[in-house]
Amino acid sequence: MRKIQVVLVSGAAAVLLGAVVMLAGCSSPGRKAEDAGVPEYVLTYAENQAEDYPTTQGAYRFAELVKEKTGGKIEILVNAGGTLGDEKLVIEQMQFGGVDFARVSVSPLSGFVPKLNVLQMPYLYTGADHMWKVLEGEIGDDFLDSFDGSGLVALSWYDAGARSFYNPVKPIRRPEDLKGMRIRVQESEMMVRMIELLGGTAVPTPYDEVYSALQTGKIDGAENNWPSYESANHYEVAKYFTVDEHTRVPELQIVSEATWKKLTPEYQQIIRECAQESARYERKLWKERSEDSARKVQNAGCEVTTLTPEEKQRFQEAVTPIYSEFCGDYVDIIDEIVAAGRE
Ligand code: GCU
Repeated sequence: MRKIQVVLVSGAAAVLLGAVVMLAGCSSPGRKAEDAGVPEYVLTYAENQAEDYPTTQGAYRFAELVKEKTGGKIEILVNAGGTLGDEKLVIEQMQFGGVDFARVSVSPLSGFVPKLNVLQMPYLYTGADHMWKVLEGEIGDDFLDSFDGSGLVALSWYDAGARSFYNPVKPIRRPEDLKGMRIRVQESEMMVRMIELLGGTAVPTPYDEVYSALQTGKIDGAENNWPSYESANHYEVAKYFTVDEHTRVPELQIVSEATWKKLTPEYQQIIRECAQESARYERKLWKERSEDSARKVQNAGCEVTTLTPEEKQRFQEAVTPIYSEFCGDYVDIIDEIVAAGRE
């Protein structure tokens, strides 16, 4: 397990730090101790994407807003690039307060909060607008409130677009083209099953290992959104990209319940509001980056395949059994989500 940086400045340490600053203030006329903005809490935030990625930029915005709105009393240190570990490990650490905040994909999170599988079912949404209507409405709010017993608290939804297949070997045009292929998936049982239903072999692998797995032939393909395909350089080693958009897997900003309980209701309220505001910012960046990434990889020689409506329908039919296998207990919510797409 990697070492965690500063987690929390304890009350005693904060008092001590305050005293030191006050003393230092004596030799600097006109500077009050409270101006020094001594943080009461220094908290960690885990993010597995690169510094310039929309979700990471959202995290920085979140940290800035929290600092500003708490008058410097809460400082959040963003650790990007997966330096605190892969998503599954980060979530496990958060369950006992080893990491305070994170932005994670709903896919690995569904191993801890199984109901989240509902939101990442293949071909569930008609498009981005449909998904956002659901996440920003009552259904989305209910999901944010259904983390009881997980040791985590959900704060806000981030965008991660739609996921599609890519590989170094050949264009994928029909479900049969995936037959026998070893496809990397996120660490989620539902994703494993989806690949099996499409005739491939699923290889759950942490995100930061996908590039080398593609390069060395340990896997024959993977699936992700445009910005990840581009940012993680997967396009360099897997040039055939099929826009099949089999899933939309939203992301969440979450906080450890152990950390959350230590904060006053006032701080909690500020954090919730800042998380929401940073989410609006992330969504704007996401849209721009998706377009830029798609353009960049195509300029670099990536070959894009678009499915015919008939073939898309065949992909959809192949994975249909997954609904009863994973969401048997949530048929009503699925129906409500589908209905929201028709309105
Ligand atoms: C997306 C998501 C990451 C996730 C990755 C994956 O890129 O933003 O958080 O780790 O998918 O495929 O593992």
